[in-house]
Amino acid sequence: MSDKDTDVGRSSGGRPRRVIGTPRPTETQYLLGDDEGAAGPPATPRAERDEDPKKIKKAERVVAFFFGLSLLGSIGFVAAYIAFPVSGMAETALSNRWLGLSMAAAFLGVACGGTYWVRRVMAPRELVEEIHPMPSSVEERRDVVEYFDQGTADSRFLRRPLLRRALLAALVPLGIAPLVLFRDLGPLPGTVLRHTAWKKGMRLVVEGSGRHVRASDLAWPGSYITVIPEGFEHDLEALAKATVMLIKMRPEDLHLPPDKMAWTVDGIIAYSKICTHVGCPAGLYEQQTHRILCPCHQSTFDASRAAEVIFGPATRPLPQLPIGVDSEGYLIALSDFHEPVGPSFWERG
Ligand code: FES
Repeated sequence: MSDKDTDVGRSSGGRPRRVIGTPRPTETQYLLGDDEGAAGPPATPRAERDEDPKKIKKAERVVAFFFGLSLLGSIGFVAAYIAFPVSGMAETALSNRWLGLSMAAAFLGVACGGTYWVRRVMAPRELVEEIHPMPSSVEERRDVVEYFDQGTADSRFLRRPLLRRALLAALVPLGIAPLVLFRDLGPLPGTVLRHTAWKKGMRLVVEGSGRHVRASDLAWPGSYITVIPEGFEHDLEALAKATVMLIKMRPEDLHLPPDKMAWTVDGIIAYSKICTHVGCPAGLYEQQTHRILCPCHQSTFDASRAAEVIFGPATRPLPQLPIGVDSEGYLIALSDFHEPVGPSFWERG
C-alpha cells in the first residue's frame, strides 16, 4: 500500500483527507496546538491572558455569586420539602415542582461557578497528552505531585479565601440536602393497610353519582355496580382501598359458608374491587359463569364461592364486605373488611 493510501492529516488546502488503510504512527500531538503552530490554531501566549488583578477580582465575584445561588438552591430544597407536604395529587405535583427547581438551581450554581472559575480565574495552561509506560517511575510520580501543586496554585484556591469558602458553602449543603429524602422511607405503615374507610352503618353510594343504593337497585341476577363509602367520594387515598363491587346473584347460586352468607342481602354480595395480586381494579364480571376477571394479569375469581381464585397469579380470594340494610332500606356496611384488601403481602405487614 502506498504512502498516499496511508497518509493521515490535511491536504495542502487544509481540508481533511480520506484515510485508507493503517495510518502512520503519529508523533506527539498537542491538544491545543504546539508552540510552532504545526497542528491546530496558534498557541495562546502563556501567562499573558487574564492576569489583570481587576479582571480576576471581578471574575471572583461572579464565581461567588454562582456558588451563593447553589447555596440558596440547597436551602430552598430543604425548605420546599418541609413547606410542601405530599398529601394528595396536587400537593405532590407542587412539591415536586419546587424540589426540582431548587435542586436545579443548586447544581446549576455549582456548574456555572466552576466553569467560570476555570475560564476566568485559573491561569491559562496548555495540555500535552502523552502515553506513559506503566508503572510510573519515581520521577513521574514526583511530576504528578508537582503538577497537582501547580494546579492548586493556578486555581488560586488557597490564595482566594472568598472563593474557597463560597465553594464549601455551596458543596456541603448540596451533599446533605438529598439526605432529607430518607425521611420518605418512613414511618412504617403500622396497621394502616389492614383497615379501610368502611365502618359499621356507613351507607354504600354509587361511584360517580354519590347516590345511595337500595337492594331493589340490583333487581336482576347479574346486576353489577361499583360502590364506595359515603363521605369519601373525593378521597382518592381512601378509595384506593375501599372501592367495592356489588353483584346480584340468585340465592341458589351462592355457595358461601354460613358466616359469609349472613353478609349478603337478597343475593347481593359485596367484594373488594382491589385485586389481591398487585392491586389492579378487578372489575370485569361475567354473569353466566359468575367469574370476576382482573385485566392486569388475568387472575380470575369465582363470585359464587367467596371469590376464591380459580386462575391466575393471585393467591387469595377478594375480601368480602359485610353488608346489610338500614331502617330506610338503604344498603350499609356492617363493619370494615375482616381481612386486608389488596396485594397479599399486605397480610404479612
Ligand atoms: S393485579 Fe390482578 S392479576 Fe395481577
